[in-house]
Amino acid sequence: MNNGIILYQSKYGATRKYANWLAESTGFSCMETKKATLAAVQPYKTIVLMGGVYASGVAGLSFLKKNLLGLKGKRILIFAVGASPYDEAAIEQARQHNLKGELSHIPLFYGRGSWNLEGMTFGDRTLCKLLLKAVAKQDPSTYEPWQAALVEANANNGAFDWSDKAYLEPLLAALKA
Ligand SMILES: Cc1cc2nc3c(=O)[nH]c(=O)nc-3n(C[C@H](O)[C@H](O)[C@H](O)COP(=O)(O)O)c2cc1C
Repeated sequence: MNNGIILYQSKYGATRKYANWLAESTGFSCMETKKATLAAVQPYKTIVLMGGVYASGVAGLSFLKKNLLGLKGKRILIFAVGASPYDEAAIEQARQHNLKGELSHIPLFYGRGSWNLEGMTFGDRTLCKLLLKAVAKQDPSTYEPWQAALVEANANNGAFDWSDKAYLEPLLAALKA
């Protein structure tokens, strides 16, 4: 199953880690989505697009949207990496939010990434602190999974790494099928 390429977009390293793990397991080539061109992916039958989740959006989807016509006939799979715990309902929500129209048939997989408030850019840290403040005002019993994860991460000095190779198993099983 090594006729494939992994495209990844990672701001803080967790998605890059998953991309490297997947490349080791599959023998697929690996490149940053920002550097990818239609010509570069043309030789491959399978494309796995891996992207960090920022404010509910999966990074790098624009490559697929822009090149959809040229990618016809290829097998495409998406792996999103976020701080929220694995939750089928939340993944379905992310599907509906990110994979609209012509992207709606693409399978979406999910793995948990990392969270390091101090390591973030000033803009990201400010945004995440604002989110935390808003969540802190809520009754914990009403938290969405991502809100609970945010509070949990912040309790650990703002640093957590949940990345785990096991999250790749459903994607690996789909690639083998
Ligand atoms: C500005 C910002 C917004 C984020 N928004 C979300 C989000 O909506 N849902 C989520 O699950 N994680 C969110 N996260 C957490 C990231 O998805 C997580 O840190 C992931 O590891 C990012 O991938 P990367 O390490 O490859 O950059 C956000 C992180 C940042 C910095």
